[in-house]
Amino acid sequence: MKQFIIDRTEIRASIAVVLGSGMGGFCDQMNNVMLIPYKDIPDYPESTVRGHAGELAIGSLHDIPLLAAKGRFHYYEGYDIQTITLPVQLFHALGIESLIITNAAGSLKPDLRPGSLMIIDSHMDCTFRASVAEPEEYSGTPYHDQAYIKLAVKSADQIDLSITKGTYCWTLGPSYETPAEVSFLGSLGGDAVGMSTVPEIQAAAELGMKALGISTITNYAAGIIDEPLSHDDVIKVSAQVKDDFTNLLTEIIKGMAL
Ligand code: HPA
Repeated sequence: MKQFIIDRTEIRASIAVVLGSGMGGFCDQMNNVMLIPYKDIPDYPESTVRGHAGELAIGSLHDIPLLAAKGRFHYYEGYDIQTITLPVQLFHALGIESLIITNAAGSLKPDLRPGSLMIIDSHMDCTFRASVAEPEEYSGTPYHDQAYIKLAVKSADQIDLSITKGTYCWTLGPSYETPAEVSFLGSLGGDAVGMSTVPEIQAAAELGMKALGISTITNYAAGIIDEPLSHDDVIKVSAQVKDDFTNLLTEIIKGMAL
């Protein structure tokens, strides 16, 4: 898997991005991009979710070598944790040291509005796969790099973008949560909810990579407001936030490369 990529490019990057639902357009900012469909990479599964192109982008951004995973794998697609985290393992094998993990997420709080961006400063595994105990909050080392969180806040400031920091809750999906589940996650101290990212944060930590998580808030989670939610809204709002998201990510990557 690693050799397959190395044989196809001269680019040796130390920074990589995992792009969530509807965020693959970020790669339009990259130069000299080579796209490798996941299905062409030996041992790589195919992504099945709409809005996830399922390809690896190799190129550069402002002369900074960069790898990007356009589309990811989710637990609800039937893959095991090992398979879900393949992109992170591949990045590590290719020499990536800094990983930005992005996602679309639902807001658990009325004041965290759809269309905003949230830096993940802590997470909770709310899947109840391992235990029925109340989910624990994980912040700081080795999961959430404090220097990168500071860099993200500074980067937002530099481009005059207002962002928040918060706790990301991982649920299994594929259904959106019920209002009762949403209320429970909020009572635990969660700010946003989504169906990805935490396995990738855990894998990055295990592999000794520094990680930064960013959520695009695409909707209010079920029951926060009196309106139904749909995957189409998730895709629509991530399209609207595209410019803010792209500018923030670009600024952060420039900061990471310094
Ligand atoms: N819940 C879970 N995952 C999500 C949501 C949500 O409300 N929005 C985008 N991904």
